[in-house]
Amino acid sequence: MPLLLGVNVDHVATLRQARYALLPDSPQAEPCPVQASLDAIAGGADSITIHVRGDRRHMQERDAFAIKKAIDVPLNLEMGITSEMIALALELQPEFVCLVPETREEVTTEGGLDVVGRRREVGDCIRVMQKAGIRVSLFIDPEIEQVRCSAELGAEMIELHTGCFGNATEATVAAEIERLAVAAKLGHELGLQVNAGHGINYQNVRLLEVVPFLTEYNIGHSIVSRAMRCGLEQAVREMRALMQHYP
Ligand code: PXP
Repeated sequence: MPLLLGVNVDHVATLRQARYALLPDSPQAEPCPVQASLDAIAGGADSITIHVRGDRRHMQERDAFAIKKAIDVPLNLEMGITSEMIALALELQPEFVCLVPETREEVTTEGGLDVVGRRREVGDCIRVMQKAGIRVSLFIDPEIEQVRCSAELGAEMIELHTGCFGNATEATVAAEIERLAVAAKLGHELGLQVNAGHGINYQNVRLLEVVPFLTEYNIGHSIVSRAMRCGLEQAVREMRALMQHYP
């Protein structure tokens, strides 16, 4: 089974909001996250990921519904565990959700969800989603207890947070890869689908080839950034070409 690629198009909406946040109905509002999703799919994206944040700094609800309607690949909704987002997910019906921690101050998601510390809340949310036919992924740090708890709570998937790997120096990168490998092995043994995401780029993606049992990468910033030079379709194609080396 080839490694799958979920493309996160949040930053397309970030750019649009920088000019059009106060003019949401403008016919000139650009760039368009729906078109970006279609371009990513044309380049080989297996799924589209969006995060509707509590402060709506990039994706808006209308984007989520428009993207869901337009695409013919699974939609992955990243969401904080709030009643507002649970209601949105139930109405939107994405194929899967990825539960993430969310604080207003952070620039982007920083650190994994503390599934152990928030066990009850996470478990309740998983059950509500699954009852609605939505598969659940938990975005966690590559730590044994978090992986175990994710399996105990009945999630179908985990997404290992690769942010520390992405920020690692030459001195620390081997240890970060080892942490990911240990967590991935355990997740696989426990029957979880193991994904990875955050901070993966064209320079570091091949270093992850030694981490076993990975099913999907979720990548946003590096692909959207590369798209400024070559277009989104081509940027996705180039990332896919690098990913095909995964054993
Ligand atoms: N996975 C999750 C859970 C995220 O929150 C993000 C960032 O929105 C990503 C993956 C993608 O990270 P990046 O934009 O650094 O590729």
